[in-house]
Amino acid sequence: MTEPFFVGIDGPAGAGKSSVSKESARRLGYGYLDTGSVYRALAWHVRDAGASTDDPDAVLAAFDSFRPGVSLDPDVRTVRVGETDVTDAIRTPETSAAVSGVARVLPVRERVNALFRSLVAASGLPGVVVEGRDITTVVAPDAPVRILLTAHPDVRAARRSAELGDADTAGVAAALRKRDASDSKVVDFLHAAPGVAVVDTTDLDFDQSVAAVLSVIDEKTHRG
Ligand code: DC
Repeated sequence: MTEPFFVGIDGPAGAGKSSVSKESARRLGYGYLDTGSVYRALAWHVRDAGASTDDPDAVLAAFDSFRPGVSLDPDVRTVRVGETDVTDAIRTPETSAAVSGVARVLPVRERVNALFRSLVAASGLPGVVVEGRDITTVVAPDAPVRILLTAHPDVRAARRSAELGDADTAGVAAALRKRDASDSKVVDFLHAAPGVAVVDTTDLDFDQSVAAVLSVIDEKTHRG
């Protein structure tokens, strides 16, 4: 069986990463893996087990009983932990605040990364778009296509507040800065590593952003 074509896309919150990655996967007939949802599911699981996400040993211990269920179908957004549907629970402010705690435990990252690689390898799909923070640098540094999707912080904040229906753009911008600062302590997703193509969506709408990503993929596919 040939390995699925691996497209890695990293970037900060509010750059349009999830929606653009998902739509690119749909148009190519590829799978889509939102790696952030697995970190979120783990944060939910640690809290559900009554442990603190600020305790690295407890997080690592909870990982042993972590049975995440994610779909690679871009049109299925259900996330499960064991039999429990956590699709909405992983998007609450409580889980969002707790997730950095689990994401900074390095042995957990190694295990989660192995899971991502095996999900892609066993997918049987022609390709998979894998979206996250360290896909282009750690999870798949040799992937045929690696993209950093970025946008000016003001634009990211404006998009995020529109998404959340929150008119306090300054407040949203501050929260975004805080999250970028905390997340980028673990992995650098604000600068492109060598060989990573940058798609800056500051002046692009959704369709133009998808077209820009597809054109990078197309270029790499044809260049071999
Ligand atoms: O993309 P997101 O907001 O759903 O990500 C949730 C959290 O997981 C965020 O705090 C960053 C972290 N994350 C990570 O450390 N590495 C990844 N590959 C994906 C997400």
